[in-house]
Amino acid sequence: DANKMWGGRFAAGPAAIMQQINASIDIDKRLYAEDIEGSKAHARMLAKQGILTPADGKAIINGLDAVKAEIEAGRFTFKTALEDIHMNVEARLRELIGDAAGRLHTARSRNDQVATDFKLWTRRAIDEVSAAARDLVAALLDRAEQHAGTVMPGFTHLQPAQPITFGHHLMAYVEMFGRDLGRLADCRARLNECPLGAAALAGTSFPIDRHATATALGFDRPSANSLDAVSDRDFALEYLSGLSILAVHLSRLAEEIVIWMSDGFRYITLSDAFTTGSSIMPQKRNPDAAELVRAKAGQVIGSLNQLLIILKGLPLAYGKDMQDDKAPTFAATDTIALCLAATAGMIRDMTVNEARLREATKGGFLTATDLADWLVRVLGLPFRDAHHVTGSIVAKAEAAGCQLHELPLAEMQQIEPKITTAVFDVLGVDQSVASRKSFGGTAPDNVRRAIGAAKERFL
Ligand code: ARG
Repeated sequence: DANKMWGGRFAAGPAAIMQQINASIDIDKRLYAEDIEGSKAHARMLAKQGILTPADGKAIINGLDAVKAEIEAGRFTFKTALEDIHMNVEARLRELIGDAAGRLHTARSRNDQVATDFKLWTRRAIDEVSAAARDLVAALLDRAEQHAGTVMPGFTHLQPAQPITFGHHLMAYVEMFGRDLGRLADCRARLNECPLGAAALAGTSFPIDRHATATALGFDRPSANSLDAVSDRDFALEYLSGLSILAVHLSRLAEEIVIWMSDGFRYITLSDAFTTGSSIMPQKRNPDAAELVRAKAGQVIGSLNQLLIILKGLPLAYGKDMQDDKAPTFAATDTIALCLAATAGMIRDMTVNEARLREATKGGFLTATDLADWLVRVLGLPFRDAHHVTGSIVAKAEAAGCQLHELPLAEMQQIEPKITTAVFDVLGVDQSVASRKSFGGTAPDNVRRAIGAAKERFL
């Protein structure tokens, strides 16, 4: 049979394979609430403008509520023959209320309809992802508070560098996730223009009120250009970019969790709740959740690339290519939600092995920079000379198999005769971190202040 929506020009129905490639209902049924919300706003506006009779407007709105109730009760049959969510909803509306349903699509096209629905969906997704990211930030802040003064080695090149605190390390991620929240907020603000009323591409001759529908749907204003309104998907690109950067941050934290859990480090332990065993090796405890968060960044970045590639080179205005915008956006959203929740779970679950972290600060001559700084500050050496002297002292300690503060003063004086016992004041790791008081530095008091400020900024 010819299609009910456009059967006027068509004598026959589509080939089975045409229907299969064309239908999007399995994916876009997730837009049902947004579709109905958009249609109700449109119907109300049409009635207010006298384009629909009050009776038809009322019938349509009540009918749409009934359709929504059926979907939410699981009593709705989604039909592939009806292609997408928009036509599924409208067809059911016609079954429920009769011919008045046919008036809903006045001064509207599926092109502005789907752009509106997808923006509404993405706006809500931004709010939900942001709430989940805030929950992760809250978990990090809690653990940072507990460990504002817990010393550990800081690394560059994954080689021991200088002492830091575990709290300071976690706060670095709080800053990253804070910027991710900012990017999502920026995206939300730019997205918030309403495409509805752009119709197919050129606008409409009906006396519609686009400002009214925009306001009713929580948009700041209607989009300014009808062609752009139906062709714009950069809000989805921007959202997926934000999710991709967030996923990269999550994967870096996940990698550190894997490293910290490894036998060579043993900085943290994850409980039974966040680890798995091996089917053959009875002793194993593996950080699978962290490994999967690390891996799933690939899916999110892949989704961004997928949509970038779909959109590049598309002529204005709408092309059916754009129907494929939803699958990657939905998939990336689901993946990020999973990764944020799993990461917050791990952060709350982990036991921080403070004794082991302190033990680790004994290797790697972490206070060598403190020694060089002392030579500059107290003896007045140029930093480059102080660097050289310190290097020689490190070599001596390495040969003696001891830490810097365990090297006898006489040994140091062989390298630089003016060194005094006062040097021992700066060679301990606690003194080292306490001295890093410059703004943003690792001193425990700084870290506590940063935690207080972050609560204001991000929660
Ligand atoms: N399912 C379509 C989509 O998601 C709706 C828009 C269809 N518009 C059209 N002119 N065929 O993009």
